[in-house]
Amino acid sequence: MPPAVTHVVGARPNFMKAAPVVAALGRMGVEQTLVHTGQHYDDEMSKVFFRDLAIPTPDVDLGVGAGSHAEQTAALLIALERTLLSDRPAWLVVYGDVNSTLAATLVASKLGIRVAHVEAGLRSFDRTMPEEVNRIVSDALADLLFVTSPEALVHLGHEGVAAHKVHFSGNPMIDTLLGNLDRFDVESVRDRHDLRGDYALATLHRPGNVDATDAAALAVQALREITQHLPLVLPLHPRGRGRLRSAGIEDVADLHITPPLGYVEFVSLMRGASLVLTDSGGIQEETTVLGIPCLTLRPNTERPITIHQGTNRLVDADGVGRAVKEVLDAPAGRPVSVPPLWDGKAGERIAAVIGGALVGATA
Ligand code: UD1
Repeated sequence: MPPAVTHVVGARPNFMKAAPVVAALGRMGVEQTLVHTGQHYDDEMSKVFFRDLAIPTPDVDLGVGAGSHAEQTAALLIALERTLLSDRPAWLVVYGDVNSTLAATLVASKLGIRVAHVEAGLRSFDRTMPEEVNRIVSDALADLLFVTSPEALVHLGHEGVAAHKVHFSGNPMIDTLLGNLDRFDVESVRDRHDLRGDYALATLHRPGNVDATDAAALAVQALREITQHLPLVLPLHPRGRGRLRSAGIEDVADLHITPPLGYVEFVSLMRGASLVLTDSGGIQEETTVLGIPCLTLRPNTERPITIHQGTNRLVDADGVGRAVKEVLDAPAGRPVSVPPLWDGKAGERIAAVIGGALVGATA
């Protein structure tokens, strides 16, 4: 009997988006399978999230791994086509904007399997980002599009996506954040990382910041600016490790470099930080909900709501020092304004729509 729904996940940011949708469909008794492409394969980039978030063990692990975009996407296409041909689910659910999302959407569309895209419609309008290409193609092909933020509705409208396919469901990554709030223990992570007073937290992994020598030098300069004010913890993503080392990251005083961290440990550190520097998409959203000032080291963002309504601002390496001073001088206790429907119930809303589509299909 084919599963009603197959979820494809592959890279770290997929896992916290999928967890609430898989759980909600499970509560509805929907037959599901979970495919892990293996785009991220280190335990600390993958397994730890399944444990932390109690996501069921994947039914299939394709073990695709790393490569150039063409190599990785080609391997994903071949492996996913085999799996979906044998499973033939009624619906495929994909998440976010990583290469696994693009490949799964493309394969399913050509096999006539309907696709639901969670976190549709975000646009940075910067096609030098691989994620932007992945978003545009996935949204063009998807049959159901779940939107996390109102501006995404506008983008999809401009791109001619039929309104009946689009659902403003809220943000499942925030479901995961709110559902785990009582596990984020700032005091214990402070002890574990030997942090006595205030501190900052950083993550950097975008190709634009870590792939080229010049960019990596600027990234290290940005980190050094922060350490002039606060000790800084940097869980270092495998991408860019080499380049950042060559750019002198290990010589920055008061910079605590750690391996990538699990979800609960990382968000606990985020919750206790005076500020966060990042180039991640999800962290712009999580800091907004937690009310932690966020400096995004990028020229643009596909998540402008985190600037207009949240705690985020875009910076370049030269502007980091000034931005840090402004954040630290700002009066404490700024009220937190959470974007609409970032309320912990997005997974339920997404599952309800998919459940309705399944009933429609069998009626
Ligand atoms: C991918 C996503 C990006 C997302 C990020 C989150 C795409 C195009 N990019 O970027 O949108 O923000 O994940 O982490 O899909 N590596 C390991 N161990 C792992 C995984 C990767 O060592 O478990 C190394 C490999 O050398 C690989 C490099 O990291 O070449 C980059 O991995 P890749 O999956 O190509 O993209 P990310 O930079 O992780």
